[in-house]
Amino acid sequence: MSELSSLPLAATNDLSALRRTVADWKLKGLQVGFVPTMGALHEGHLSLIALAKEKADRVVASIFVNPAQFAPGEDFDAYPRTLDADAAKLAHAECDLLYAPVASDMYPDGFSARLSVEGPARGLETDFRPHFFGGVAIVVAKLFNRVQPDIAVFGEKDYQQFLVIRHMVRDLDLPINIIPGETLRERDGLALSSRNAYLSAQERSTATSLNEILAAFTADLEKGIDWETAQGKALAKAANVFDRVDYIEARCAETLSPLPAGPVLQPARVLAAVWLGKTRLIDNMPVG
Ligand code: PAF
Repeated sequence: MSELSSLPLAATNDLSALRRTVADWKLKGLQVGFVPTMGALHEGHLSLIALAKEKADRVVASIFVNPAQFAPGEDFDAYPRTLDADAAKLAHAECDLLYAPVASDMYPDGFSARLSVEGPARGLETDFRPHFFGGVAIVVAKLFNRVQPDIAVFGEKDYQQFLVIRHMVRDLDLPINIIPGETLRERDGLALSSRNAYLSAQERSTATSLNEILAAFTADLEKGIDWETAQGKALAKAANVFDRVDYIEARCAETLSPLPAGPVLQPARVLAAVWLGKTRLIDNMPVG
């Protein structure tokens, strides 16, 4: 891993240095945007940086592979760590500061705080990764407290995460505007994700089915087919293609609460998590 000082953009892992830089910007009346990431950056992340740059005068990106959101046996160790390439991409995207804290600083010995989130965190990801949103909430709350941004951009690819953070910020009265960034897709529709790098060539060609299945599910709902029938069709197709299906569901777009039986008459979202070999893919789409 490179020394942060040799990277092609301003970068620090030091909290005081981060705070000095941001305080200096704020003294000048500049609005600060923030894009938290775990690195392994792709065009999807860079579109979030571009959106933050549109909405704010200065942009901080963080790279921190957060151990608190991985359960034992998940891919924390395997998660791609590509700091040099990430820094080059951030520099090209004209990100103003990279903050890359170390784990012992984020979670010093004896760290004991926990954040419990409910509401949109109920079900879906939580049914399969019960540790996940607590881990995301605590790290994002810490990063918000450290960076003190005016706005923060979260990708809609992780739609449930975006809603959980938006609710957390509202519930904790944090003065941060949470802005959604659209999902970017490959030409065949596969949503960009750092975890796509795990897919073998054969898995990669199968992975496109997730987008097709969700698009067909969405189209059925938009035709007025009741969600139970449309979901049954989507689940049957997915069971034929994927090694495992965690969930494929339609939920209320704002709260992620379950929909009333029958045709969908309110803003909704279809969401899915499936497995190809050792790779878990998630995706979602708006209905209507
Ligand atoms: O979406 C991610 O990459 C992570 O969950 C986040 C928001 C950076 C927190 O670690």
